[in-house]
Amino acid sequence: MIITLDNITKRYGSFVANDSISLSVRSGEVHCLLGENGAGKTTLMNVIYGLSKADGGQISIDGKAVQFASPKDAIAAGIGMVHQHFMLIPAFSVTENVVLGLEPTLFGDRLDLDAARKRVRDISAQFGLEIDPDAPLEGMPVGIQQRVEIVKILYRAADIMIFDEPTAVLTPQEVIEFFKIIESLRAAGKAILFITHKLNEVMEIADRITVLRHGKVVGEADPATTSSGELANLMVGRPVSMLVSRTEAKAGDVVLALENVHVTDGTSKLALDGIDLVVKAGEIVGIAGVHGNGQTELIEVIAGLRPIVDGRICFAGGDIAGISPRERHRRGLAHVPEDRSIAGLAVTMSVAENMVLDSYYEPRFSRFGRIDWSSVRKAAAQLVSQFDVRTKSVDASAASLSGGNQQKVVIAREMSRPIKLMIAAQPTRGVDVGSIEYIHKRIVEARDEGVGVLLVSTELDEVLALSDRILVMFDGRILAEFDSRTADRSLIGLAMAGVVTQSQTHAPEIAP
Ligand SMILES: Nc1ncnc2c1ncn2[C@@H]1O[C@H](COP(=O)(O)OP(=O)(O)OP(=O)(O)O)[C@@H](O)[C@H]1O
Ligand SMILES: [Mg+2]
Repeated sequence: MIITLDNITKRYGSFVANDSISLSVRSGEVHCLLGENGAGKTTLMNVIYGLSKADGGQISIDGKAVQFASPKDAIAAGIGMVHQHFMLIPAFSVTENVVLGLEPTLFGDRLDLDAARKRVRDISAQFGLEIDPDAPLEGMPVGIQQRVEIVKILYRAADIMIFDEPTAVLTPQEVIEFFKIIESLRAAGKAILFITHKLNEVMEIADRITVLRHGKVVGEADPATTSSGELANLMVGRPVSMLVSRTEAKAGDVVLALENVHVTDGTSKLALDGIDLVVKAGEIVGIAGVHGNGQTELIEVIAGLRPIVDGRICFAGGDIAGISPRERHRRGLAHVPEDRSIAGLAVTMSVAENMVLDSYYEPRFSRFGRIDWSSVRKAAAQLVSQFDVRTKSVDASAASLSGGNQQKVVIAREMSRPIKLMIAAQPTRGVDVGSIEYIHKRIVEARDEGVGVLLVSTELDEVLALSDRILVMFDGRILAEFDSRTADRSLIGLAMAGVVTQSQTHAPEIAP
């Protein structure tokens, strides 16, 4: 079985998102699609999956031309897609989620849930997914939810499987498990299209590689004869350094101090169980840990988005209990949230509006008591060019931007004014290698200008590359501390799993 794309073209108005793209994927093959943010990868996948209609070109399966008016047609032709944002219902069980949309519509017909449950179990066993058909979705780790999405498309007998940045939301351990699943899908003869920004993953999993730039195919590569460096170069059209260059930190006064902070997870369960933490001006403190060990609550309580149950948080010299998020912001707190689509952007608003969401009320953007749109648009245009946000104009909606470019809008906004502390949570999620290089450089520059940075990332490489000190969170506590100059990857890994020695124990400094 083989799916072939011939000269696929897709336009949005006068903008050409896919420019005459040709490629093919055979059964038993993993074809990786690489390209800068906005290169047109997701657009192409949406065309294949019948979500959007090409303006030109032809898709064929086994030499026969096909046409999809909707995903329903694509599914019937054996195509399945795992989206980056899962489309699952938390209150339903695994099996209920899998059969969602397949309910018989004829009067008198009944959905045979027992048979469905059995098939889910069989599929799970066949591909090593380890999914319990009766488990509720609610509270499932992201990695397991992703497997439910995979079961869902296998249940519909997909032979061609599309994964759009599946690893962006996974922890390193989950990535290892996920790759085993990909191996078993490949062995079973599935044709797999795989999008990622992580070049080491491409080198590991790809049978073939196609690189897109500005909507066009700019190269094809064989993983056996290429290197990550070559791929990066091909993607962005220039050499990219994956090492962050930085000098030793010159830490100054304490900007943020948490003392014995307790926070619940919304029920009565403690999500933060006595956190002591200090961030000084001019240093980057990295938080490593497996997602779900309190990182989210830590970020939220500092940003003022979650109530503190016990303890004290001092920022820029004063206790900030009971101070609104906006006021924290005004005192110099920047916040790049973990999930840009929830707390980072208003996607229906324009790029310009999003760039000033936090500052539109400031004098520099007002004129005679109203928002001065010409200043707003000017400031936005400057940030768009500085951070290389690929957008048609500052008036385009944030929703029309590619994922990585949306992330760049959030970073640009948060770094666009004088700040004392930056909480950077997963700052480069979904961002291409060229832009990661730039964002990392800007974070180090901010540090050198005296900003304290609290970096939270599930990417251990990112934490190691940027941090001056590394703290490991485990089960709502800070379990260990490492000096990044001497930090050992495997010891940090062990601490992330809850194993530490005495010398690594985090000794809190007493805040002044
Ligand atoms: N509905 C839309 N309306 C207008 N422009 C769009 C729309 N959808 C996508 N685009 C534009 O098409 C281009 C390609 O976007 P696409 O999402 O395919 O990029 P991508 O390669 O997936 O990037 P990323 O790595 O950031 O996910 C972008 O410049 C984007 O702004
Ligand atoms: Mg995309």
